[in-house]
Amino acid sequence: MKFNVKNNVDWVGKIDWELEEFHGSDYSVTKGSSQNAYLIREEKTVLIDTVWTPHDEEFIENLKKEIDLNEIDYIIANHGEVDHSGSLPALMKLIPDTPIYCTANAVKSLTGQFHHPEWNFNVVKTGDTLDIGNGKQLVFVEMRMLHWPDSMATYLTGDNILFSNDAFGQHIAVSGMFNDTANQADLWEQAMKYYANILNPFSPLVLKKIEEIVGFNLPIDIIAPSHGVIWRDNPLQIVEAYAKWADAYQEDQVTIFYDTMWESTTKMAHRIADEVTKLSPGTTVKVFNIASSDRNDLMTEVFKSKAIAVGSPTVTSSILTTVAGWLHFLTELKFVNKKAAVFGSYGWSGEGNKVLREKLEEAKFEVVEPEIRVQWRPEDKDLSEARSIAEALLR
Ligand code: FEO
Repeated sequence: MKFNVKNNVDWVGKIDWELEEFHGSDYSVTKGSSQNAYLIREEKTVLIDTVWTPHDEEFIENLKKEIDLNEIDYIIANHGEVDHSGSLPALMKLIPDTPIYCTANAVKSLTGQFHHPEWNFNVVKTGDTLDIGNGKQLVFVEMRMLHWPDSMATYLTGDNILFSNDAFGQHIAVSGMFNDTANQADLWEQAMKYYANILNPFSPLVLKKIEEIVGFNLPIDIIAPSHGVIWRDNPLQIVEAYAKWADAYQEDQVTIFYDTMWESTTKMAHRIADEVTKLSPGTTVKVFNIASSDRNDLMTEVFKSKAIAVGSPTVTSSILTTVAGWLHFLTELKFVNKKAAVFGSYGWSGEGNKVLREKLEEAKFEVVEPEIRVQWRPEDKDLSEARSIAEALLR
């Protein structure tokens, strides 16, 4: 399988239709994905990135249909994570002396993972260039912490293509490979999920990096990331979206997340949702049971929310493990400028709300004072505090 990106640049990656999870089980993949590798054939032949290890044989067989592997003059390793570098060991067995261009940190990650310090590494940094003939050059831009310390983007002059690696990617499999061929709702849902779950912790760096790249004044006709579609129709739309998402993004949405043992906490969740809706009919209100929902999709909902409420019954002096694990993930993602409220039922000791409050404060949410904390099963009168929670979250 191959797609022409532009002129002498072809996509030679892997559409991973059946991928269901990523980063182990840390990221749910519901619409497939792709690992994008690119072949540039100018006076010099350049391979940009490879695909994940399980697909290495297929990748190399496809590559052989395009070129004699010995014609590859340079390999660019934009990032050392195995979804992009995993075919290198098999490839380097066949062309062991081929120069690999990457950041200093990528030498560490590639050597650490594959144990081939003898590979012909060539370290590059921001602004370094590589002449590939026919008047074209590759320009390297370090993308440190977007999302690994070794990440890098590569820009092709003449064709004005930014090979951005993980940045601007999405986990989605699209048969047409370009953004204008994708279902737009699916594409943007997956682009946002990817940002919220992978890049959000690095938002301050995203803003700086966008400023830096814009400051280069390089024309960008195509953004070719390492996952999902290639942005050829108005490619800067994804850059503009990142600039917005990186800047304390929120929509007019309040979301209630909870888990329950015997439905008392469920009643609280629904009552809070009702009160928010009554007070602010234009606000999008959503309710999710953490245990029965996709935890990554829930993080996208947090990302969109200006305020959340989190509920759990008290269990053995703490909270349900489903909620505790999810709150740990929430803390990792470093959301900013969002409010939170807590609620939960208890039978005996009732520490749940205190634990929820501490964990949400640790996650840097502004936790409002009103809460619902009810022993045993709440009656209607026990839920009146839902109104105060709604007021505080909307304030
Ligand atoms: Fe950080 Fe797509 O790997």
